Amino acid sequence: MMNDVIFEIKVDNLETGLRGYPCGYCSTSSVDPEKGLFYSGHPVTEMEDWPTEKVIYLLYFAKEPSEDELVTFTKKIRSEAQLKQETVDAIRRLPREGHPMKLFSAALLIAGMSEGKEDYKKDAYHLLATLPQIAATVINHHAGWGEVNESNPELGYIENFVHMLNLPDPHDESLIDTMRLFHLLHMDHGGGNLSAFVGKAVASGLEDIYGSLSSAMCALAGPRHGKANQDCLSFVQEIVDTLGEDVEEAKLEQYIRDRLESKKLVYGFGHAVLRVEDPRATTFYELSAKKYSDHPLVKIAHLLHTVGPKVLKENPKIQNPYPNVDAISGITLYAAGFPYPQYYTVLFGLSRCIGISRQIIYERLEAREGKGTPIVRPKYLYRAP
Ligand code: MLT
Repeated sequence: MMNDVIFEIKVDNLETGLRGYPCGYCSTSSVDPEKGLFYSGHPVTEMEDWPTEKVIYLLYFAKEPSEDELVTFTKKIRSEAQLKQETVDAIRRLPREGHPMKLFSAALLIAGMSEGKEDYKKDAYHLLATLPQIAATVINHHAGWGEVNESNPELGYIENFVHMLNLPDPHDESLIDTMRLFHLLHMDHGGGNLSAFVGKAVASGLEDIYGSLSSAMCALAGPRHGKANQDCLSFVQEIVDTLGEDVEEAKLEQYIRDRLESKKLVYGFGHAVLRVEDPRATTFYELSAKKYSDHPLVKIAHLLHTVGPKVLKENPKIQNPYPNVDAISGITLYAAGFPYPQYYTVLFGLSRCIGISRQIIYERLEAREGKGTPIVRPKYLYRAP
């Protein structure tokens, strides 16, 4: 068993971003190319009505909590949900220039300086509890929306996050529902996505949770990873501006073909692992069709849902012509009353830090009978430039 060959490395596998290389075990979630994302063996789309704390519990303890366990866990998270004033003040002294993900990564480092205890488990719990306040402080500060409203964890994890944001426009329950769904669907995505991999790699040098997650969030910030949701929104916006919200299917098809011919990206389609439509995308398509079908961006995103795969399938080299979650997640947030695309990746990070922190605990404290995994140190072959 231990000597079974599970992957053979050919020269062709070099410089492929470690695509498909088995690197270890992931105890939180898995991604099936045909069925999508599972948290601890449960299809993620089954959890739409679960309270956020229940999903976090499932990822953390690999089982559904009993009622008592959920109450105790929720109490614990809520009791720690307040950052020290010095942490908030230091975040509010950060420059406001640049992408908010830079502030988010910096804020995690700052939190590590004033809140960290150099203990992976304690730090992970405290970070879980305070992430909504960190993210709300970053967004309010960057957006110029003023101070964060006083944290009220009793409202619920995401409810409190939305309450802490000083949103300039009034919002209703449907924004909170959409944010909750967005948060739930982005908590984890197996062990090999770039931010999880980077976070665990940095932690393998024994950096603490805060620094490791700060690095993970730098990894998430790139347009090929977490910033894709913001870029997808700009892409759909560009279509509305160029072709109008009532564009005919044939015209949109031609627009996609022209983009492909000029080697431009068609945002929101394809995925490193999935070979079908991302079930997380299906959930957002259904929600947006039910609630926001008249919104111009939603109309175009739904038309792209049909047209995109049709045109992409014309190219046999494209392995997965189907939409991923980014094709519709940001657009649904926009239509639900959060029209601030520059913060979509921060929302992604607010959620993804949860899965990554649990994966770090596994690798640092549980793997190899508690010895933990060694420092990440792959081999590169020398080749003169
Ligand atoms: C995702 O949520 O789709 C990922 O983080 C991307 C990946 O799995 O590589």
